[in-house]
Amino acid sequence: MIPNAYRSLHCNAIRAEHTGQNVTLCGWVNSARDHGGVIFIDLRDREGLTQVVFRPEENSEVAAQSHHLRDEDVLQITGRVERRLAGTENARLPTGEVEVVATELTILNKADVLPFQLDRELSNEDLRMKYRYLDLRRERMNKNIRQRHKITNAARNFLDGEGFVEVETPILSNPTPEGARDFLVPARLSPGKFFALPQAPQQYKQLLMVAGLERYFQIARCFRDEDLRADRQPEFTQIDIEASFVGQEDIIRLVEGLLAAMFKAGQGVDIPLPFPRMTYREAMDRYGSDKPDTRFGLEITDMADVFAASEFKIFRATLENGGVVRAINAKSFAGITTGQMIRLNELAIQAGMKVKQLAFIKVERDANGVLEYKSPLWKFFGEAEKAALIEKLGVEENDIVFFYAGTWDEACNILGRVRLEIASMQQLTKDSTALNFLWVVDFPLLAFSPEDQGWVAVHHPFTRPKSEDVPLLDAGEYAKVRAEAYDVVLNGYELGGGSIRIHESDLQAKMFGVLGVTSEEQELKFSHILEAFKFGAPPHGGLALGLDRIAMLVAGEESIREVIAFPKNNKACDLMTDSPTTVDFKQLRELYVQSTWKEKKKDETAGA
Ligand code: AMO
Repeated sequence: MIPNAYRSLHCNAIRAEHTGQNVTLCGWVNSARDHGGVIFIDLRDREGLTQVVFRPEENSEVAAQSHHLRDEDVLQITGRVERRLAGTENARLPTGEVEVVATELTILNKADVLPFQLDRELSNEDLRMKYRYLDLRRERMNKNIRQRHKITNAARNFLDGEGFVEVETPILSNPTPEGARDFLVPARLSPGKFFALPQAPQQYKQLLMVAGLERYFQIARCFRDEDLRADRQPEFTQIDIEASFVGQEDIIRLVEGLLAAMFKAGQGVDIPLPFPRMTYREAMDRYGSDKPDTRFGLEITDMADVFAASEFKIFRATLENGGVVRAINAKSFAGITTGQMIRLNELAIQAGMKVKQLAFIKVERDANGVLEYKSPLWKFFGEAEKAALIEKLGVEENDIVFFYAGTWDEACNILGRVRLEIASMQQLTKDSTALNFLWVVDFPLLAFSPEDQGWVAVHHPFTRPKSEDVPLLDAGEYAKVRAEAYDVVLNGYELGGGSIRIHESDLQAKMFGVLGVTSEEQELKFSHILEAFKFGAPPHGGLALGLDRIAMLVAGEESIREVIAFPKNNKACDLMTDSPTTVDFKQLRELYVQSTWKEKKKDETAGA
């Protein structure tokens, strides 16, 4: 560190070799101790701690002052570095061999008693968020924020090295459909009109390809008004990438290199490349998820061959009607508690299960040492299917097998959710340091939305259908069309997603048509991009990585709130600044906006 007006070294830099030298340090009182009238403090700055001792024989005035020091006071101290007395060294601190004997003390600012102690983990997240600037003083948060800086820097350097140009795109823009609600901003100078905050810079980055930039990236802030989870914030950051004259393979290789550089910078590890790949269909079949956590087994097994001619009518009928029967063998989990069983069933119901309970078989030995298959179903199975089931699922003593019979979608959703919950109950990933990256490829282009009673884009409307599947699109066989799309997954988290894009105006218009966007709407909302594609748009594609999620996984945290300096809570509020907030009527009038909040309240009261 270069000495400046306030300090000659930082608090973590002092070593035995400095013994005898005078140093000036600045920082906060981390803790103060009185040892028989002599005050010892640990002085903390962002780099670490140094012990400072105030000896009356050194400077009696300063020593007297030191008795009034309180935690978190801000100090400047000048003193002489000395070796600590033998036996009083602290091996846990890099500066633990030495201390600074204070000769001068300036109190730069006094601190009131803090609302919480910084050296303890605090479970009250609201309190942490209200005083986030204090929460950020804690070592863990300081480390997370600085680690995030390192990986962001590594990403910038890597992409710069690959010839990518960083371009900022507008925050005040038009809606771009990424599947969430928009945050809207009233436009005072265009009365009655609104900007939308970008859900992603998707259209701008494609327009930059039309502009001939060829290789773009941006550390881009994105805004999505959607239900929050531990890995979702209403504003979050993407490493957004787009390139021209590339195919899927080029983007995949580029992103693998980028992630390797980021994990090297953040964790010092070399992640093995290339990442394994799995088709969407395989991911759903085996793991019930398009972002499978492959750190543990508990795979879903298709039981069609075992139950095709089952004596158990429900299974046989489901298969005959085109449905599936699938199972998970939870090894050594026959000891599942009643509470855990209730929880699993609740989750399965949330995931779409129509019946009240998952079918199961529990394998335990009875008092006489005989192996028992405890299950409401067992008696319905024939001997051959029992044997086939045991063989196929590798069923052994202490296992519990869960079954689901229904549609393919239901089975994937329900068993996928159940699989994760069992893993969590069995703590299968506890203390695991595995980094299981993988690519999920060959996503479907479209999905039918019962809510909208129409087809929606699985990624977004700009995603390219696989060329061999375009005839299926023309034939209206929408469910069968695969996309030139890929997601990168780590330990069950979707880190990023992207695709090769449509670059032809007519194909793009056709895609909008399939999605139910009328020609009038296309003209109104997307004429810029449809027109741009007529002026020599190059083939292009890209991907966006969720920077917050990567920072979370690098830091070993379980919520992205731990790696964002000022996150929103789970109600999308900032408790520190108390936002969002109400605004004056005058301000609304200037924006030509009328609040309907009162009417909503009135409706709700009337309806109640
Ligand atoms: P997508 O919508 O998949 O793709 O977003 C890319 C990545 O951004 C992260 N992410 C989020 N992180 C935190 N909070 C959120 N609310 C949130 N939503 C998404 C995820 C996700 O994988 N324009 C396309 C990319 C492209 O096609 O190039 C897009 O935004 O890690």
